[in-house]
Amino acid sequence: MTFELPRVTYSNIGVDFSPVHRHLDEIIPGFEKQVLGQDWSTPFATGPRKEIVSPISAELCLGRFPTSTAADVEAAISSACAGAQLWNRSSLEERLALAQRWRAALAERKYELGLAALYEIGKSRNEAIGEAEECLDMVDYYSSELKANNGYTRRMNELVANETAISILKPYGVFAVIAPFNFPLALSVGMISGALLTGNAVVFKPSPGCSLTGLMIAETLRRVGLPEGVFNIVLGDGEVGRQLATEEGIDGVAFTGSHEIGMSIFRHMAMLPHMKPVIAEMGGKNPAYVTQRADLERAAQGVARSAFGLQGQKCSACSVAYVDNAVKGEFIERLASFSSKLVVGDPRKAETFMGPVYGHSTVERFKAAVSEADKDGKLHFGGAALGQGFADNYVLPTVVELNQAGRLTREELFMPFLVVRGVDSLESAIAEGNDVPYGLSAGIFTRDESELQYFLDNAQAGVLYANRASGATTGAWPGAQPFCGWKGTGVSGKGGLGPWFLPQYMREQSHTIMTK
Ligand code: UN1
Repeated sequence: MTFELPRVTYSNIGVDFSPVHRHLDEIIPGFEKQVLGQDWSTPFATGPRKEIVSPISAELCLGRFPTSTAADVEAAISSACAGAQLWNRSSLEERLALAQRWRAALAERKYELGLAALYEIGKSRNEAIGEAEECLDMVDYYSSELKANNGYTRRMNELVANETAISILKPYGVFAVIAPFNFPLALSVGMISGALLTGNAVVFKPSPGCSLTGLMIAETLRRVGLPEGVFNIVLGDGEVGRQLATEEGIDGVAFTGSHEIGMSIFRHMAMLPHMKPVIAEMGGKNPAYVTQRADLERAAQGVARSAFGLQGQKCSACSVAYVDNAVKGEFIERLASFSSKLVVGDPRKAETFMGPVYGHSTVERFKAAVSEADKDGKLHFGGAALGQGFADNYVLPTVVELNQAGRLTREELFMPFLVVRGVDSLESAIAEGNDVPYGLSAGIFTRDESELQYFLDNAQAGVLYANRASGATTGAWPGAQPFCGWKGTGVSGKGGLGPWFLPQYMREQSHTIMTK
């Protein structure tokens, strides 16, 4: 009776999730036996199979997955072009019906999908099941927007007698969807649903280590009766992604990942005879401001949850806390006390808040950041691996204090590493927090209306939060928090999860018809 279990999102704290944990305890052994360790195949990946192991333990094999050759990528695009012939002309009703069937298919496998993300990325149960739940709400929210906007068709003014005009948004054709590792379900389903619901065909490439969730998403789509060729999946590394994004048959690219790769896709498009749309979300460096008027316990919890949730590997993670010098000591004490209770360990266990970090390079970058901070500031806590028999990719939540801004306050680090900066005014703090290449999210903790207003008027980021214990800068949810990257994070000025997402996958046409 899984439908009676409480819904997990990224922001519910204080909810009793024990029924969810009991359910997961029951299904985990079967999941390990039946889903993990398989040999997978898929039509557009004929290259040799490679084993992918879980970051939880090198002994945990996720499965053996094929990769796509250059010819496979071409074949997947041809297939999508054929599928587009039909799907580009699909009616609003057909798209809404597809969305409903897909949502049902995702709902049926919600816990398995969540577990796949847990094993694949090493994310905690709450993060993993929350992500699976988010997929359902994305499909729901985007289809409700499609419906509310009448498929983005509207009447225009009648300029002269007997002439009617409409504005209609139409799909571009075929979208490449290139997803990152950190939310292998939600970010994939978000971009795929953006493209499919607006009538585009899709060639989807999951992150190189995320073939398991990628293929499981593909399975849910196979079951919903999409016409042949409308959805296609290719598997492989950055080179496969580069080929996919630059092939002629692709009419647009939806990308979430690093600034460097996102911008290289833009630069490529700019060199073509005509520009193709790129919908991109490309990282963050997100500040939280804690003023003298803050509820410090709330601030400490909100900052810790945002900085250390999913091991800090979110574009939205809080990475710098600007704290008024008058309350800095007490804030750090509360932060240390709360963070030391966050359980680091095997994410299969119910009590775990932080699993391993993803990829060995993250461990190396973590060590480098710690030694850099040691030289230029003070390590307050963490800074090392968990030990206790765990591999070195289980690192502790880490807080350093730096006396000046620099690489660690400006570059996206993507690890559980928080910088604290003591400040004397909110104005100077926000000026420094804005002085970064990114502009995704920002948070404030204050009970003062004018400080809050100053923050809302001056923070240069697309997602602002105030006084959130569940996450100072994290936890955006479909239909609730539009997720728009400013500056180096995004380019279109419109975000995911909100009302302006779908139109980005479409182009406008006006129809003016003389009726007599
Ligand atoms: C990301 O930040 O990497 O708002 C993706 C949040 C989540 C994360 C989205 N929706 O924290």
